[in-house]
Amino acid sequence: MPDLQARSVLLLSSLARPDSMENNMAAKANIVRLGHIEFRVTDLERARDFYVDLLGLHETERDPDRIYLRTIENREHHCIALRKASSAGVGSLAFKVATPDDLDMLERRFGALDLPMKWLQRGERLGLGPTLRVRDPLGFPIEFYAEMAPVEWLLQKPHLHRGAAPTRLDHVNILTPDAQKGYDWYTGELGFKCAEYTEGEPPERRIWASWLYRKSTVHDIAVMTGPGPAAHHAGLSVGEPMNVIRACDMLASAGYADSIERGPARHGISNAFFVYVRDPDGNRVELYTGDYLTSDPEMKPIRWQLNDKRRQTLWGAPPPRRWFEEYMSVESMDGTDLLPVSPPLLQAIPNYVD
Ligand SMILES: [Fe+2]
Repeated sequence: MPDLQARSVLLLSSLARPDSMENNMAAKANIVRLGHIEFRVTDLERARDFYVDLLGLHETERDPDRIYLRTIENREHHCIALRKASSAGVGSLAFKVATPDDLDMLERRFGALDLPMKWLQRGERLGLGPTLRVRDPLGFPIEFYAEMAPVEWLLQKPHLHRGAAPTRLDHVNILTPDAQKGYDWYTGELGFKCAEYTEGEPPERRIWASWLYRKSTVHDIAVMTGPGPAAHHAGLSVGEPMNVIRACDMLASAGYADSIERGPARHGISNAFFVYVRDPDGNRVELYTGDYLTSDPEMKPIRWQLNDKRRQTLWGAPPPRRWFEEYMSVESMDGTDLLPVSPPLLQAIPNYVD
């Protein structure tokens, strides 16, 4: 642990900027993209009806504890697992890596940092190969895997598409008390690049949030200032804005109007058209479409100021306060507890929020 603490001090003292060299450090392990997320739900069938019948995900398989879901673009077993639990929350966030060697590389690195970790064997979760589960320096249960069972591709089977017909799990958004430390960890240690970032108000120049990617879109993960470790939402890509509107129509007509929390509208950050919805347990999902490519190496991150309301919603309408105040707790390493959160180091709610 002293090693980690020393490193944290070093990272924090450096106050890395998105346009500095740290942003271009090569990854030690080749992380491909965000792979899957596990939501805790209290009623598996009720949650399944919400995600499958209304949002339009597809059930791949189930076991007594979990229902495994995929999008129409998924060529792999699942991107969301619903797990029976006593309360809402997030069991794990998982990144896909390119090869099993990348898993070994990560094991050595997390071991050197003296961080808790364990291996989940092939088949311990349906469809998944060997998985390295760690508690990262921000306190999150993060998993890495290289293999997942192939499944039928549904993209060109439009007669099977329903609801918003999500195309992929695009990103996850997490809350941590020190988002500058989160930026430093993901860019400096895991090889993520930054598409956009928000700075605290002057004279504070710490990063308030960053949108970080491995695949060539705006983000695989956003790291925001807030009580943490906690998860804010998972973002599902859909084909076009009408899919977002259709999901709202379906939710409203099925008695879930109150689950539409924010939007539809367009983000300033990412340019995406979006809506945030809450599942029957309160877990938060974003339907998201229309962001942009980030493949070109000369692209510079876009900087925003915390209290610029067009940052969050290009059309100006502020998010409801509960969008900031409510979060999804994350699990301990062994999955037996939900982790307590620590308060944010910076102002967590912008001035424009009522
Ligand atoms: Fe998002």
